[in-house]
Amino acid sequence: MKLISSISITAVLAAFALCGAKAATPAYLDDTQPLETRVEDALQRMNTAEKIALIHAQSKFGSPGVKRLGIPEVWTDDGPHGVRPEVLWDEWEQAGWTNDSCVAFPALTCLAATWNPDMSRLYGVVVGEEARYRNKSMLLGPGVNIYRTPLNGRNFEYMGEDPFLASVMVVPYIQGLQSNGVSACVKHYCLNNQEINRHTTNVLIDDRTLYEIYLPAFKAAVKGGAWAIMGAYNLYKDQHLCHNSITLNDILKGEWGFDGVVVSDWGGTHDTHEAVTNGLDMEFGSWTNGLTNGQSNAYDNYYLAQPYLDKIAAGELTTQELDEKARRVLRLIMRTTMDRHRPWGSMLSPEHYAAARQIGGQGIVLLKNDKSVLPIKADAKKILVVGENALKMMTVGGGSSSLKVQQEISPFDGLKAQAPAGCVVEFARGYVGDTGGEYNGVTTGQDLSESRSAKELIAEATQKAKDADVVIFVGGLNKAAGQDCEDADRESLSLPYDQDRVIAALADANPNLVVVNVSGNAVAMPWVDKVPAIVQAWFLGSEAGNAIADVLYGAVNPSGKLPMTFPRSLADVGAHCFGEKAYPGIERNDGSNILDEEYSEGIYVGYRWADRKKTKPLFPFGHGLSYTTFAYGKITPSKSQISGDDTITFTVPVTNTGEREGDEVVELYITDVKSTLDRPVKELKGFKKVHLLPGETAQVEITVGRDELSYFDPEAHAWVAEPGEFKAHAAASAGDIRSTCSFKLLE
Ligand code: BGC
Repeated sequence: MKLISSISITAVLAAFALCGAKAATPAYLDDTQPLETRVEDALQRMNTAEKIALIHAQSKFGSPGVKRLGIPEVWTDDGPHGVRPEVLWDEWEQAGWTNDSCVAFPALTCLAATWNPDMSRLYGVVVGEEARYRNKSMLLGPGVNIYRTPLNGRNFEYMGEDPFLASVMVVPYIQGLQSNGVSACVKHYCLNNQEINRHTTNVLIDDRTLYEIYLPAFKAAVKGGAWAIMGAYNLYKDQHLCHNSITLNDILKGEWGFDGVVVSDWGGTHDTHEAVTNGLDMEFGSWTNGLTNGQSNAYDNYYLAQPYLDKIAAGELTTQELDEKARRVLRLIMRTTMDRHRPWGSMLSPEHYAAARQIGGQGIVLLKNDKSVLPIKADAKKILVVGENALKMMTVGGGSSSLKVQQEISPFDGLKAQAPAGCVVEFARGYVGDTGGEYNGVTTGQDLSESRSAKELIAEATQKAKDADVVIFVGGLNKAAGQDCEDADRESLSLPYDQDRVIAALADANPNLVVVNVSGNAVAMPWVDKVPAIVQAWFLGSEAGNAIADVLYGAVNPSGKLPMTFPRSLADVGAHCFGEKAYPGIERNDGSNILDEEYSEGIYVGYRWADRKKTKPLFPFGHGLSYTTFAYGKITPSKSQISGDDTITFTVPVTNTGEREGDEVVELYITDVKSTLDRPVKELKGFKKVHLLPGETAQVEITVGRDELSYFDPEAHAWVAEPGEFKAHAAASAGDIRSTCSFKLLE
């Protein structure tokens, strides 16, 4: 049951009015007053118990506000791909409301794959409208943990391997969301780059790697105005990241000046003293002891509840930190629920579905298209669709981002709906993956049970494939445990359920094979040379089938590019080249349960590692094809040298040399030719997506400044741009540089 604060702001105003004929509106309720004046006014009216109540949960997703003052409750909800259904007050089970189905938007990997900040803003606005309509103060997302290994079960909730791409893409989402008066809660800050042992892994990392690779997207989110951030479950320097003196006090609140709320991940708090002094502002929990299990209705046992009060009473802690935490939560409430000008929001609107479809269409990546198998020809008479993922609903599962949707179009339904006139679209199961379809009481209602053997399924599929004009295999991962799901990593890079065998058999049966891989992670493709067309389709949400059909039939010309490298094998991934100490970590011998994990590859994550080792990935970072072709001209710098705070603009002429209009993402990489510290071969420092008609040329301009030339010098604890020669590369992917120029940085 959702309890609504019983005293409204109107009631409080009335009470104040009774005290005297001309009683002024208290400052905290007067929105003509500056925010900080309102916050301080509210704070000085509160007693210690009220402040304590304000900073910890009273239910799974809510905290109480200050009833006496009419300061409303804080309601959070997952995030990040749509608004999670209501759950029971003190249970994870869905509450069974009939008015809380949502639109599911594509997973954040797909958003990153659009390389289009306008799509990110649109995403933030529409998911924010749904959250606002549902009366949420905070949506738990977006996530920007860096894609360190393709095994991480939650990569699908994040924005890929590159700090620059993730930084550019995360900000518009946050601003769009918050334009609804709903706070973002950027997660999981920081170094939460795997799910295995997520509560007990202590990350050993050098400062340079921390600042260059793992922090930038969080910093961008904070500088971009995020009102809240969620601490991660794991540890850094032996302190949990939900109460970590370095990442929260020194970096987040110190160096970056964050004025918002640090929210614990659910059950991520472990110690009252640390929580109080090391930067945590608000505690939420998975179970009511704030940890993993406990008695019901015992929110008083949270670390920031009675134990905190007791320590204040005993003189072990002062109320100074408490005031600061309460201040931050009050600021959050004023920015959200108490902003009487915030819009009303809306749910399930046609515009929301259209946005989901558009973002999906822009994020789907055409990895390979030999013999122009795609788009599917208008004269096709028989299309065979094979694979469980052509049917399976993907919005239920995956952990806390699981949703209850009003509708989800399956790939099979989408492909049927847009098939050319007179064309039959048949289905063969191909393999059995995960037949489940339930999360916290939300069920898909699909019956995916299957009694035939794997051999029979392959025989049926290959038989039906023989006379098809085109065969579309839709497989990949599916958000079941270990297959892109919270709380577990994948066990290998390979596709599960023997899908490789099915694909190989289909390739033998029909040369016109399209493989559509649904996943948030790279997968191995031992059949890559046998399959002419491969599409990376992500988890696409409510409009999955329509977005896939738009691309496969050609209504949408694909323009997504990979936000991560597809390696040939784990041996080509930095994190997997140093044994267990680098992944998944080595357990200490001291009975503490803690594992130490060293990020031995340092800054060489993703394409930085591939460049360093000179390996050729299966598909490089930034790769994505179109149904048209683009020619790049010569890259030209606006000047030959820069100094001080100058910027430099690179111009690249890009021409659509094909017969269809389409979008191209132009990527700009920078090389520091000689530097004191070892630097990556090249790093992404700019990009732009342009729309071009056939024959049209755009002069694409990308500007960089000193920041984009700098590395983090751990000795000086500062960003340093070293004078000397640099190169700028215009590229279609990290593996496809089209033009290079040089310029100099002076003192
Ligand atoms: C997840 C968070 C999520 C929270 C609330 C945690 O287990 O790590 O991402 O927001 O639960 O559902």
